[in-house]
Amino acid sequence: MDKFIPYGKQFIDEDDKKAVLKTLESDFLTTGPKVKEFEEALAKKLGFKYVVAVANGTAALHLASKVLLNRGDRAVTTPNSFLATSNSILYVGAKPVFVDIQDNGLIDLNLVENELKKKKIKAIYPVSFSGLPFNDNNLKYLKEKYGVKILLDNAHYLGGGYCDLATYSFHPVKHITTFEGGAIATNNEKHYKKLLILRNHGMVKTPDMYPWEYKMVELGYNYRISDVACAMGISQLKKFDKFLEKRHQIAKYYHENLPENIKPLYPYTQKSHYHLFVVRYPFESLDEKAEFFIKMRQKGIGLQYHYIPINQQPYYVKKGYFKKFPKMEKYYLEAFSLPIYYQLTQKEQDYVINSLKELL
Ligand SMILES: Cc1ncc(COP(=O)(O)O)c(C=O)c1O
Repeated sequence: MDKFIPYGKQFIDEDDKKAVLKTLESDFLTTGPKVKEFEEALAKKLGFKYVVAVANGTAALHLASKVLLNRGDRAVTTPNSFLATSNSILYVGAKPVFVDIQDNGLIDLNLVENELKKKKIKAIYPVSFSGLPFNDNNLKYLKEKYGVKILLDNAHYLGGGYCDLATYSFHPVKHITTFEGGAIATNNEKHYKKLLILRNHGMVKTPDMYPWEYKMVELGYNYRISDVACAMGISQLKKFDKFLEKRHQIAKYYHENLPENIKPLYPYTQKSHYHLFVVRYPFESLDEKAEFFIKMRQKGIGLQYHYIPINQQPYYVKKGYFKKFPKMEKYYLEAFSLPIYYQLTQKEQDYVINSLKELL
């Protein structure tokens, strides 16, 4: 194969380019009409009343954490996510509480409940890891029984869910891209209004005395997203159903053609948005896994692993969060992500599968 096959990448077509160019030639590069238009299109797609689009998924998590948590609060979350999920808890001076995952890579809600029984916990931060959404009833049960808030990190899943706030990322490897970009979705009008203020320096523009007046009422940020990015997002969103269909087609093909010894993380399901296609293989050691990764790279295949347990990162270790969770440890040893993206051809997929068969 002469072309390098990454684990994920964007797809940009002529319509996207036209949409971007048109906005570049308009009066507004930022704080213009495309932001609202993108937010409305997202709200409709995701099934929430309100959406606030922001600079990236990490900014979305930060603002969502500002809304849900206070300094000193605790929030239960998963070690199996990108750093940004639990970093956002730390940003606001709160404390993440990590619990182990289930076999499917998602946070184990039974273990979450154990923590809720033991300590005062303000919120749960589940991640729709790899694109697999949560079983709403379990989250609903926990929310109703313990009065916790729920922040759903849906960076891997471009759909709705039971929560107070859901966050999204439009980084190029995600389902749709706005170059960098993110969003927070909610049905709560109060949260929505606060998010709008926080996104723009904590500032409100309601002149009392002078026409130039603006008031800072919160300690906010500049987490705005540009109109150029939102024009791209609107155009990308129109293709989402097509993107998703292709991801399902690729996932199904892996399920049908992978050898017995390489096991998909969970049975094929229409419910998953398959941001990642994760498989497991019983490696003896991380060194053996690394050797295999290098050999695959030499064949032009860019495997990835998602994720190094967050609580084992040097910063988290220094802060006292280090802990080994049995399922997470086994997952770290066994799991890796295969290429999955819109333009992946069946020939390329066959090449990936045959290379796996050869090396494992
Ligand atoms: C689960 C998860 N949460 C949050 C983020 C952060 O999103 P962004 O890269 O847009 O800041 C990512 C992105 O990699 C992610 O995978």
